[in-house]
Amino acid sequence: MDKSLSGVERTFQTDEIIVSKTDPTGRIVYANDIFIDISGYTVDEVLGQPHNMIRHPDMPRAVFKLLWERISAGHEIFAYVVNRCKNGDHYWVLAHVTPNFDEAGKIVGYHSCRRTPKRQAVETMSRLYAQLRELESQNDRKAGLEKSSAALQQAVQSLGFASYDRFILSLGR
Ligand SMILES: Cc1cc2nc3c(=O)[nH]c(=O)nc-3n(C[C@H](O)[C@H](O)[C@H](O)COP(=O)(O)O)c2cc1C
Repeated sequence: MDKSLSGVERTFQTDEIIVSKTDPTGRIVYANDIFIDISGYTVDEVLGQPHNMIRHPDMPRAVFKLLWERISAGHEIFAYVVNRCKNGDHYWVLAHVTPNFDEAGKIVGYHSCRRTPKRQAVETMSRLYAQLRELESQNDRKAGLEKSSAALQQAVQSLGFASYDRFILSLGR
């Protein structure tokens, strides 16, 4: 395991929502108190930073590729994400990420609301993400991402779902 990680999981309550907003490039422009509490950072440390400041190395690149493809095309996405806290702890979320539009329909930023996931969903996603990471690390950057993205698509379809979102929502909130 990465030495900067503690292996300790943090959890939050079912009635809590971790919220952040970004500009169109993914820089954080707002984080609510629950985001601040669980991440271990201060507001000053997160504002203006790229959202990958809380990226956990267990997250496959294919998931973020899909996320950005969807939201930059003006769509919403639901995704399971494991995030890294300042001290190396981690926490799992079920994120709902949406674009914000101005009156002309241009994307002016993004918004993410995160709820605590079901245990069963975390177990399923940890296994799937580990397989995707394996593909990403066994190959060069480009080929790894292509293989991992294809494997993500295949996993969703072989489980009988039409899309990543349908699969994610089937795991429950
Ligand atoms: C509104 C919004 C919320 C995001 N939330 C997270 C998050 O909680 N954790 C995370 O690792 N990336 C999040 N991202 C994605 C990051 O911008 C970034 O793509 C990801 O961390 C992967 O980093 P990389 O592109 O440098 O590999 C979010 C992006 C947006 C637009």
